[in-house]
Amino acid sequence: MRIDIITVLPGLLEGPLNLSILKRAQDKNLCSINIHDLKEYGIGKHRQVDDYQFGGGAGMVLMIEPFANLINSLKEKTDYDEIIYLTPDGSLLDQGTSNALSLKKNLILICGHYKGIDQRIRDLFVTKEISIGDYVLTGGELAAAVLCDSIVRLIPGVLGDEASALSDSFQDGLLAPPIYTRPADFHGNKVPEILLSGNFPKIEEWRTNKALEITSLKRPDLLK
Ligand code: ADE
Repeated sequence: MRIDIITVLPGLLEGPLNLSILKRAQDKNLCSINIHDLKEYGIGKHRQVDDYQFGGGAGMVLMIEPFANLINSLKEKTDYDEIIYLTPDGSLLDQGTSNALSLKKNLILICGHYKGIDQRIRDLFVTKEISIGDYVLTGGELAAAVLCDSIVRLIPGVLGDEASALSDSFQDGLLAPPIYTRPADFHGNKVPEILLSGNFPKIEEWRTNKALEITSLKRPDLLK
């Protein structure tokens, strides 16, 4: 998979995307994540990327030309499955969306900043709009990092233990059951006996029941 991210603040993405599992995925050539600084496509000698809103109003708007030049140059070399704009008015990200996107080959992610991006970028280039929650961030970068993380970890071979992504919360529509590691007894706080029994069918049954119990307690809406 190839992911190209367009931003005016590359520094906000470089840390989260180049550590841990996302770094390993790139080192193993399972995906490449390319961060593009929109300012390199800015206009004139000041590399301008934003301007005042037509009609008045607070906040600067990212201009269409730098985006158009950068996106068109990317599209000359690669066929993209989706061009995604991270925005609080997009459709809410969920596990199903991440699963579907993890099967794609090439994605562009667009991060807005300041007041947002010129509507014509959305009209002409964007194929999907995603929000990571009903709150407003300063820009789309942290949302893009969240989206990348949730997609890349699902690419086969990225997680060491293949089964591990499948047992995540939401993957089967339920929250995950509790997990424990050593010691089996911490000052009298014991790990549930069943997990030490070696009886794997019974352990699976216990985990499913716990997942159902926790989901009905914390997120009953998921059971509907
Ligand atoms: N940009 C600003 N807020 C956002 C959000 N909640 N989701 C995605 N992109 C955003």
